[in-house]
Amino acid sequence: MQSILKTILSLAAAGTMMVSAPLDEAAPQHDMDGPVFLANRQWKVSRYYIPENMRQAQVQGQVRTLREEAATALEEMYAACKEEKNITLTSISGYRSYATQRAIYNRKLDRVGSKAKADEYVARPGASEHQLGLAMDVSQKGKSNLSASFAKQGGGKWVAENCWRFGFIIRYQKGWEDITGYEYEPWHVRYVGKEVAAAIHKNEMPLETFLLLLREEKLMDIMIVEE
Ligand code: DAL
Ligand code: ZN
Repeated sequence: MQSILKTILSLAAAGTMMVSAPLDEAAPQHDMDGPVFLANRQWKVSRYYIPENMRQAQVQGQVRTLREEAATALEEMYAACKEEKNITLTSISGYRSYATQRAIYNRKLDRVGSKAKADEYVARPGASEHQLGLAMDVSQKGKSNLSASFAKQGGGKWVAENCWRFGFIIRYQKGWEDITGYEYEPWHVRYVGKEVAAAIHKNEMPLETFLLLLREEKLMDIMIVEE
């Protein structure tokens, strides 16, 4: 058991696992209303899907709508950041409907003139996990929004190190672009629940890779790994 586990983890660390886990292999396999449902460029959410039980997270910021469990987790995370670092995190963009995604995509398309170019910047409608009501774009109060510099700010560093404690993961990391299908976004956190977030954080793997392991029933190995 232990040696199989080590192999999986070293493959994942070396990136080999990622090569064997292209987007279309890591299929969504869970309840759409559950916290680990996969949405990406390959696996799009239906235009008709609207999550139930959404509410406004009681934090500072703009679009603060999330599913109930993610909103509660976000409030706890922001409060802990304030308590531990005296930094106020704010919310830029939570739930995004299919129609909003379409409007954002079309606006970009008008501006850049081709789908190939627009695709570099913006998700096509249905390809954003913001539609699940489980993703939030986080900022630090007083700093510029949705910038890679978030990773170097106190709030961004704290979020990267601590978001798993509240059930979130940094979904789009450097080096994972071919797996996740998106560029590095230190500000985008995704709620997956505490247990899964802890496993993903510890093993430093994209959600796609995690779901592939889950499908191959190797998840328990990952979940029980010891130092
Ligand atoms: N920027 C992220 C990938 C989204 O639109 O969901
Ligand atoms: Zn986002």
